[in-house]
Amino acid sequence: MIKVDLSGISTFLDSADPDYAAAAQAHRVLLDGSGAGGEFTGWLELPRRTIKNELKSILSAAAKIKSRSKALVVIGIGGSYLGAKAAVDMLGKTDNSEGCKIYFVGSGLSVDYLNDIITELGDDDFDVNVISKSGTTLEPALAFRIFRGLLERKYGKAAKKHIFATTDNERGVLKKMADEEGWDCFVVPDDVGGRYSVLSAVGLLPMAVSGIDISEVLGSASEYLSELASPGPSNPAWQYAAGRQKLYGLGYSTELLAYYEPSFRFMAEWWKQLFGESEGKNGIGIFPASLEYTADLHSMGQFVQDGPRFLMETVLQFEKANSEFKIPFALGDRDGLNYLAGRDLADVNRTAAAAVKSAHILGGVPNIEILVPRRDAAGFGELVVFFQFACAVSAYMSGVNPFDQPGVEAYKKSMFRMLGKPSDK
Ligand code: PA5
Repeated sequence: MIKVDLSGISTFLDSADPDYAAAAQAHRVLLDGSGAGGEFTGWLELPRRTIKNELKSILSAAAKIKSRSKALVVIGIGGSYLGAKAAVDMLGKTDNSEGCKIYFVGSGLSVDYLNDIITELGDDDFDVNVISKSGTTLEPALAFRIFRGLLERKYGKAAKKHIFATTDNERGVLKKMADEEGWDCFVVPDDVGGRYSVLSAVGLLPMAVSGIDISEVLGSASEYLSELASPGPSNPAWQYAAGRQKLYGLGYSTELLAYYEPSFRFMAEWWKQLFGESEGKNGIGIFPASLEYTADLHSMGQFVQDGPRFLMETVLQFEKANSEFKIPFALGDRDGLNYLAGRDLADVNRTAAAAVKSAHILGGVPNIEILVPRRDAAGFGELVVFFQFACAVSAYMSGVNPFDQPGVEAYKKSMFRMLGKPSDK
């Protein structure tokens, strides 16, 4: 199970400890649904509900896609994209034994990116999973129009059999089109917002097609959610939420999520969306940023160690690597590295992390550590619900609604005006 280590913040605290009374209140409000946005807390039940209601049909759609196609084109943006991308990248090398190649499109408007994917796809057989809760988001809607055209050119009337739409159960253009065309449909539940939806078909269908064991993801998430529901200062989600809110109150306004596994990069992107959209509103919020160590120590390390002191650092560590590599002995020791010969590279990585932690603390950067047992399907499931739970508790502690994102509309309004969108569309 995930553990949180707050020993690296103690020297930065004033006389008061993290505010567990406020965490307790936030926890209560979250679980009884009485807080702002309480109608969007269906994610607390999501793993259990998905196992009961949708797991079978997701697995059967995934099996169909894998049996006939070399690739799945996943179309979505924000919460309709980042969770699946995070999982496929984080677990790809370890769990992906017999899956299809997954392409992600519709998370931007770059023509070059789009053309590169179409070229890479070539003549391969493929399916499309279009994911949009509203069904109206411009980026995925445009990409879907393009890939629908490609499917129609390739498969003619049978194109409709290669489309899987994940959208609202009743509303929206995508749902209407799916009903008219007879595409297979999966539901984004009404009571679950985009960034909390990865453990529904939104994330699970692409994950299953890539070869990830989604039953394992859901099982571990469901089990861990029951643990997180127990109130108390030993609850890791409380520790993380209360620790970072305490630091925010002391002026540490930016949180760096640092990780030592490159495959974690998109999990950090998912985390940024989760915390950024949930907490950054009403003029307050911790700015979420991420760094990949040790690589970024050679670019941003100077700033972290020595720049203005508004940074807190949350370090994500897997307790065990998935493989090992013993550093070889070299005759003559011309590169001077024989003092490391025989040691596992993972051990050197861990030692580097311990050294970075102590240097950054000395440099004035408080450190929170999150320890995850393994980089595997169970670890992914736990991480998702851990961060979602901690995020909701943290947002309620700071007095904001964790489940809305009113600020996202501003750019859309201005973009649609400039693009000349008719008012009735
Ligand atoms: O978390 C959210 O709600 C957003 O990031 C949405 O997921 C994102 O804007 C995409 O929206 P939709 O799924 O409606 O296309």
